[in-house]
Amino acid sequence: MGVTTGLMQRLGMTSPVMQAPLGGGGDTPAMTAAVSSAGGMGFVGAAYMTPEGIGAATDAVRARTNAAFGINIFAPQRSVPVIDGRAALDSAAPFFRELGLDAPEMPGDADDPFARLFPAALESGAKLFSFTFGTLPATAMAELKQRDIFVIGTATTVAEAVALQDSGVDAITAQGAEAGGHRGSFDPDGPGALVGTMALVPQVIDAVQVPVIASGGIMDGRGIAAALMLGAEAVQMGTAFLTTAEGGSPDAHKQAIMVSGDNATRITRAFSGRPARGIANRFMLETEAGADAILPFPLQNHLTRAMRGAAARVGKAEYLSLWAGQGTRMSRRLTTVELMQALDRETAAALGRFG
Ligand SMILES: Cc1cc2nc3c(=O)[nH]c(=O)nc-3n(C[C@H](O)[C@H](O)[C@H](O)COP(=O)(O)O)c2cc1C
Repeated sequence: MGVTTGLMQRLGMTSPVMQAPLGGGGDTPAMTAAVSSAGGMGFVGAAYMTPEGIGAATDAVRARTNAAFGINIFAPQRSVPVIDGRAALDSAAPFFRELGLDAPEMPGDADDPFARLFPAALESGAKLFSFTFGTLPATAMAELKQRDIFVIGTATTVAEAVALQDSGVDAITAQGAEAGGHRGSFDPDGPGALVGTMALVPQVIDAVQVPVIASGGIMDGRGIAAALMLGAEAVQMGTAFLTTAEGGSPDAHKQAIMVSGDNATRITRAFSGRPARGIANRFMLETEAGADAILPFPLQNHLTRAMRGAAARVGKAEYLSLWAGQGTRMSRRLTTVELMQALDRETAAALGRFG
């Protein structure tokens, strides 16, 4: 098809498609390897893994492909204040009961996993390292540079993009409001920026010198072509990969995406304590309705984990974090390779319409 950009050349990509890290089990080694083998860039979403899990997942990717791939974790987070969590426990208790689980307890471990996970990410063999929720410490950036690992940060505003560039990243993912999953905003307690992809990408491009990757609501070749027209040098797509055959999410999550409409998603803190976009369901709406019923990140994430696990086992979508972007009606049930081929064809067709 011949689409190429400076970033694609630098990373040896023949497709502008990066598969978003889908932390929590949405991506799998089979998916990551298939995207990279097809000329795009696959990522391992490692934020919720253990160091051993990172080793196993990246070994599994390397067993399937010699192509470069990336790894993603969260930037270090501020420590969580001591709080009275009774309202959150009371709010979640009925949902636990409905699933036959013991009443939830106040989560104890709020330690920041960055120090544990970063060394494993460095050793993983990944050629790219991406992160969200802030900037990296200078020491971590220096270690990545020393190993010649390509570093990508996530911005939801121009100010975040400029801060990332100043910190030394090699490229920036501009995450628009349409995006599924957690907002990459640096401040978890702030008002939360919701600038759409169409408006955010060119404004970020105007403000920084590093390549910009467009993300949020891009589901097919029309979206890819539009992002390239805005000046993006690649796209990062999450929701589109969730429903592939290789996608690791529970079937109830995939099914909810396949049947949901364009207005099905909301931004919520109900599942993790940080704003994230997912398909509205009972747990989200009822928890949001209760004042003070949500713990700060990551405590709320720990609190709801047992509920989400049980719901996945019995296929109950009402209790799952159904992360998805605004483009769900364009979701498809394909293999990862078929999706990559379709995106390639559609991008060529969309760009071809304008000579
Ligand atoms: C299920 C799911 C999990 C995600 N996990 C991560 C993650 O661990 N790290 C990250 O940087 N972004 C994560 N994201 C956000 C994506 O990087 C990306 O911004 C988003 O998927 C783009 O919007 P789209 O879903 O409309 O394509 C996740 C998104 C989804 C849908």
